[in-house]
Amino acid sequence: MERVKSAIAGCGGIAGAHVKGLKLLWENDIKTFEIVSVCDIDEARAEKMAEDIGSFQGYKPAVYTDVDEMLVKEPDVQAVDICTTHNEHHTVAIKCLSAKKHVTIEKPLALTIRYAHMILDSAEKNRCILQVAENYRRALSERTINWVIKSGKIGKPTMLFWEDISERLWYWGWRDHKDISGGGWTLDGGVHFADLFRYHIGEVEELYAVSKTYNPIRFKDRDKLSDPVVIDVEDTTMSVLKFENGVTGTWVLTNSAVGKKTSFRAIYGDKGSIVWDDGLYTREGHISLEKLEEEYLDSLSSEERERLFPKGIKDTIAIELKEFFDAILGAGEIETTGEVGLKDEAISMAVYESSWLNMPVKIKDVEECKVENYQKTLM
Ligand SMILES: NC(=O)c1ccc[n+]([C@@H]2O[C@H](COP(=O)([O-])OP(=O)(O)OC[C@H]3O[C@@H](n4cnc5c(N)ncnc54)[C@H](O)[C@@H]3O)[C@@H](O)[C@H]2O)c1
Repeated sequence: MERVKSAIAGCGGIAGAHVKGLKLLWENDIKTFEIVSVCDIDEARAEKMAEDIGSFQGYKPAVYTDVDEMLVKEPDVQAVDICTTHNEHHTVAIKCLSAKKHVTIEKPLALTIRYAHMILDSAEKNRCILQVAENYRRALSERTINWVIKSGKIGKPTMLFWEDISERLWYWGWRDHKDISGGGWTLDGGVHFADLFRYHIGEVEELYAVSKTYNPIRFKDRDKLSDPVVIDVEDTTMSVLKFENGVTGTWVLTNSAVGKKTSFRAIYGDKGSIVWDDGLYTREGHISLEKLEEEYLDSLSSEERERLFPKGIKDTIAIELKEFFDAILGAGEIETTGEVGLKDEAISMAVYESSWLNMPVKIKDVEECKVENYQKTLM
């Protein structure tokens, strides 16, 4: 069987989840890849990851601490899985694409929209496959919610409510610094939610947002709440979204809400509503999400089921990586392309840009870099 010779760049937390996904594929006899090298500026992390991969793959990948060196010394590598911090996404991706390697890259696509365009341009110029590792929509629950909406069970969608309200006092390392992360949770986690908005509802045309840092002090010692650090990303955003198809949304994310913690995520239509972790409500009654998931799986043809949940696998990262290798082998299409990643990120960035200007912004203007005041300090 032909196998894609692949590398991993960035061997931290999420790369560990990627390796778990790869192992799961391997255990299910989906051996469409081999990991020939790994790279991290932190050699110990790369070493550990190479050991982990070696334990299921049968041989240990070569270890590098510099992407340039890896690209020179591993000419047979066909594809690179980029799992670095956000500030390094565009530099590492453009090096790999320029060396004609196919790329899958963790979300958000890039530190800024301008850098995201540079990655897309490089992929096009070098005729390489580019996938953004957007895994949330691949979950059974999200596929089911999408089926509920698209099959008309809530009628014509009218409103989105997405509120995640909690408090985090601990310090989250590079994620709490704009120059490395590009923004707080509205970008880091929010880009997943933006992808779900687009996947379930459609394009956002315009939004108005307020972004705040209510609590700039976070603590390195989680238990004792000692060792304070000043952070410089937002901890709260509140946005009103206008979708092209007339849906109106409110999107609230905060990790500075003291006391009561809550989350409510729902899409309403003129016949009913679908509520995350709950189910479908109509005037006739309630159907649980578990029941809907069963109905959804039953509705799939065996080909669709195999494409979406190969060999019954539900691990979203394993599924996305399989899609990436299949596309390289000419056996399928990429669902979450670079373009998808760019459009998703434009929504998160529009939140910051709108708050910066204190006026509504068109998502297209952010996408086309006509509005980039917030992002200026990152370039
Ligand atoms: N899909 C998801 O659900 C999900 C979850 C968590 C993180 N992520 C994304 O994954 C990426 C990494 O996040 P993480 O939590 O693993 O962070 P992390 O800090 O645990 O790991 C990042 C790694 O990148 C390495 N690195 C930085 N610059 C490098 C370079 N130039 N070359 C090689 N290695 C380099 C760092 O040394 C570190 O080991 C981010 O884009 C993040 O948003 C996605």
